[in-house]
Amino acid sequence: MTSIEEPVQKGLRPVRAEADDTVEVRFTVNGTPVVLDLPARVTLADALRDHLGLTGTHVGCEHGVCGMCTVLVDGEAARACLLFACQLDGAEVVTVEGLGRPDDLHPLQESFGRNHALQCGFCTPGFLLSAYDLLNNEPEVTDEELPAELSGVICRCTGYRNILTAVSETRAAYPEGIPEPGNCARRTLVGRSGGRSATVAEEHAEPSDEPARTVEIVLPEGEPTIAVQVDTALDVPFDEVWRVLADVHVLAGCLPGAELTEELGEQLYAGRAQVAVGPIKLSFHGIARVLEQDRETGTIRVLAEGQDTGGARTQADITLRASATAAGTDLRADAAVYLTGRIAQFGRALAGDISRRMFEQFAESVRQVATTGEAPQQSHAAPSAFRMVVATLVDRIKRIGRRRGGE
Ligand code: FES
Ligand code: FES
Repeated sequence: MTSIEEPVQKGLRPVRAEADDTVEVRFTVNGTPVVLDLPARVTLADALRDHLGLTGTHVGCEHGVCGMCTVLVDGEAARACLLFACQLDGAEVVTVEGLGRPDDLHPLQESFGRNHALQCGFCTPGFLLSAYDLLNNEPEVTDEELPAELSGVICRCTGYRNILTAVSETRAAYPEGIPEPGNCARRTLVGRSGGRSATVAEEHAEPSDEPARTVEIVLPEGEPTIAVQVDTALDVPFDEVWRVLADVHVLAGCLPGAELTEELGEQLYAGRAQVAVGPIKLSFHGIARVLEQDRETGTIRVLAEGQDTGGARTQADITLRASATAAGTDLRADAAVYLTGRIAQFGRALAGDISRRMFEQFAESVRQVATTGEAPQQSHAAPSAFRMVVATLVDRIKRIGRRRGGE
């Protein structure tokens, strides 16, 4: 039974540190080794959510009462709000993200869906991992015992009956033991906090036969939040422009406020980017994968995703096409951008205008680098999006003025 009377002892280490002392902690989350530099006071729940971007672990009471934050530590259910991350050096942690994949759910997840055991869903991750722990350790548990055994998680929507049915059905379907979590593989975790927080612990990783890293940048289905198309005529020969596009480091340096921080292999890169719009400052940490880089067609295509500390998330599918013209090179950028979180509050039109201006600045940097052959002359500070917004507003006012003038 998962309860607060039964604290997890495995995987814990004593740590002597002041609350704000930074402690290095290395553990494995859903099959991915990570190294975090964290203040000693940071709980496992906060480390997972804020530093690794694994927000499936929910936090309800932060007192070990509600069970929402239940995860598996070394195979046993544990309250992530009651553990300090620094105690878990060397531990194996599984969160709800590790249980199943969207296209291949764990049987418990399927059963929860089939039995309408998800209402608001807030308690669902806690129930799933508690139920997993129960069926894994006590596959012979009876239906009569289920309410007491699962009482360590509180559902504020009172959806208990369907939850119990879902767990009971899964138990009946797997009398010999419940399948293991099905989504534990190496991938890059993108944290919501700054600092060295979500680095794969490469140098301490066990030798593995696995291909380097399983990293998927999966764009949402459906229409992007904004679609950007920017065409820029550059008075520079194609070959010079392509030299910039062909070098990912130089290319990243041309993006306003962006910086590559790590080369992860297989055309995958980690980096950060900053944007400040008035009082709102967004600092994204993310990854980008180069899908195509073809000199013949002058095309480079990149998938990117990033998150900021406040939960703003952006994903993009960007294609740059350079083609030779009589006057130099035409550089065209096509981007499908998906925004969630507080960045989405800007609204489509404004976000679209800002993105367009950023691409224009990018094209200008490409022109400068292609012309001079020198590294981009820009700081990695947030680009002056305030100026971009002002310029955008001025443009709009001018457009309105022109329309009115034409009336
Ligand atoms: S948030 Fe951990 S038990 Fe409630
Ligand atoms: S489904 Fe809403 S809290 Fe349980």
